[in-house]
Amino acid sequence: KPVVLSGCQPSGELTIGNYLGALKQWVNMQDSHNCYYMLVNQHAITVRPDPAALRKATLDGLALYLACGVDPEKSTIFIQSHVPEHAQLSWVLSCYTQMGELNRMTQYKDKSQKSEANMNSGLFTYPVLMAADILLYRADRVPVGDDQKQHLELARDIATRFNNLHGDVFVVPDPYIPEHGARVMSLLEPTKKMSKSDTNPGNFIGLLEEPKKIAKKIKRAVTDSDEQARIYFNIEEKPGVSNLLSLLSCATGQTVEQLVPQYEDKMYGHLKGDVADAVVAMLEPIQEKYHQYRNDQALMEQVMRNGAEKASERASKILTSVYDAVGFIAKP
Ligand code: AQP
Repeated sequence: KPVVLSGCQPSGELTIGNYLGALKQWVNMQDSHNCYYMLVNQHAITVRPDPAALRKATLDGLALYLACGVDPEKSTIFIQSHVPEHAQLSWVLSCYTQMGELNRMTQYKDKSQKSEANMNSGLFTYPVLMAADILLYRADRVPVGDDQKQHLELARDIATRFNNLHGDVFVVPDPYIPEHGARVMSLLEPTKKMSKSDTNPGNFIGLLEEPKKIAKKIKRAVTDSDEQARIYFNIEEKPGVSNLLSLLSCATGQTVEQLVPQYEDKMYGHLKGDVADAVVAMLEPIQEKYHQYRNDQALMEQVMRNGAEKASERASKILTSVYDAVGFIAKP
């Protein structure tokens, strides 16, 4: 089976963007792939979060993975910091990454403009740690959103460079765009993607939010002001309405083409009401399961322990061949 690796940052409460764009696809891949799904808490400290908040977000994230259907019997689920090989490989790879390459990363440029107060070198070398995450498992496929494509491209370049110097140590990973993947946009600024760390909570819907709050946020979502207030799908002309339509499509399983005619004579308010109902219905069973898992400490610990053990087993073999390739002497 092809190996897949992916993860979410515990940088806040996971959103419906993380669910529809990532977790739901992960679940679909569990039978056909050998999957490694992690919570990347080492990436999350690049913005230096409050430690208690990071701990909580990590455990909440783990319970949400399980609640969304990521199955520890089928997939390896783990916390990044429980597998020290990630940090170890990251150091080696940083010596095979050019400063110029990192300088060209657009996410770093964006983030550095936003947070001049904390421009730590972790933000700059973030893509190297991400390359380590991927290459450590010899992953064939990495499901990525648009925003991560450039980082994956860099991981491919680093792997190729290393292999050219030292033989075929790494598998050069392919990006994988899931068939039914969705890009969920911000509710109030629908031309940018929905992000869990957005400073305006009106922009995102967390997977654990109360139904009433969800309905309120969707009611306030930006629609587009054209004279006829028609409901149709066109991302350039109507980014807000198109986002609501694609959310409704994901939550109900109907295609956008099937949905649009149903709103021919209806108003934005109708659409918003239906989106809210569909999103709440989609989240209810997830929230219910989340509470069961989150309160079952023994189970949570067992998942973390088993996951870290399985991940380390594979990662340590690859790290050993990397150490050997660069000339590190094995510990006698
Ligand atoms: N809005 C989105 N639509 C579709 N997919 C999304 N993903 C994130 N947001 C959307 C996918 O979720 C996975 C995990 O992402 P991440 O947590 O590692 O970081 P991110 O992509 O930076 O997500 P956020 O929510 O925007 O986090 P912050 O705010 O901390 O930067 C990825 O597969 C991503 O594509």
